[in-house]
Amino acid sequence: MRSELSGFLAGLTWPRPQGPGFDPDGAPSDPVVLFEQWLREAVAAGVPAAHVMTLATVDAAGRPDARVTVLEDVDEHAFWVAASDTSPKGKQLGRVPVAALVFHWPQLGRQVRVRGTVRTADEARTAAAFERLSAQARAEALVDRQSRPLHDEEWLSDALGDPSDLVLLEDPGASTVPVWRLWGVDAGRMEFFQAAGADADGHHLRLRYSRTDGAWAREMLRP
Ligand SMILES: Cc1cc2nc3c(=O)[nH]c(=O)nc-3n(C[C@H](O)[C@H](O)[C@H](O)COP(=O)(O)O)c2cc1C
Repeated sequence: MRSELSGFLAGLTWPRPQGPGFDPDGAPSDPVVLFEQWLREAVAAGVPAAHVMTLATVDAAGRPDARVTVLEDVDEHAFWVAASDTSPKGKQLGRVPVAALVFHWPQLGRQVRVRGTVRTADEARTAAAFERLSAQARAEALVDRQSRPLHDEEWLSDALGDPSDLVLLEDPGASTVPVWRLWGVDAGRMEFFQAAGADADGHHLRLRYSRTDGAWAREMLRP
């Protein structure tokens, strides 16, 4: 069985990237500007869910964890993600406030890595983001207990389908739920990877930005 999987994996290929390619010399001095440019190019190239990323965290014992989440917002150098306080990722972000993000846009042969320290959003930003959620997502946030074992699927369907669970939302003073938060990853390091192909000159390109005392420094890395 396993050897069949090995053969299957060996037969998989990596598509040649299409798209605009990358000229690191012409890259902006602010990596968030470059991130926005690449995100827009990914969407224009038809990458599905280009704003979906892998969020990596560590727990108090130093064990890593990772899962896919949606990028809710970006400002200055913070990347914002929504997660419940009580979920494993919420506990990890709260106890060990560092995180890494990875975006992968295969059609363009691009990856963006972000690493930084974590902080929570203030009430106004959190409430505004909560209001933008779909009714389903708000219901899930209200029901909470994400990632606990699911023993009773019928109960969950009932809970998510019962408008009384959404009663909090009708009270303007309670436009969010206490456990639901926006977490900001303040980027201290960002790396842009462009796979060879398109107009790249024969090898992969890696440009890393590091932030010290508010200023970004740039360097190319060996591929
Ligand atoms: C496309 C996609 C987007 C997702 N977006 C989010 C998100 O924004 N926030 C979230 O808490 N979970 C999101 N999830 C679910 C997470 O991947 C994960 O299963 C869940 O948050 C539990 O993670 P945890 O046990 O590490 O806390 C998403 C999953 C997928 C497949």
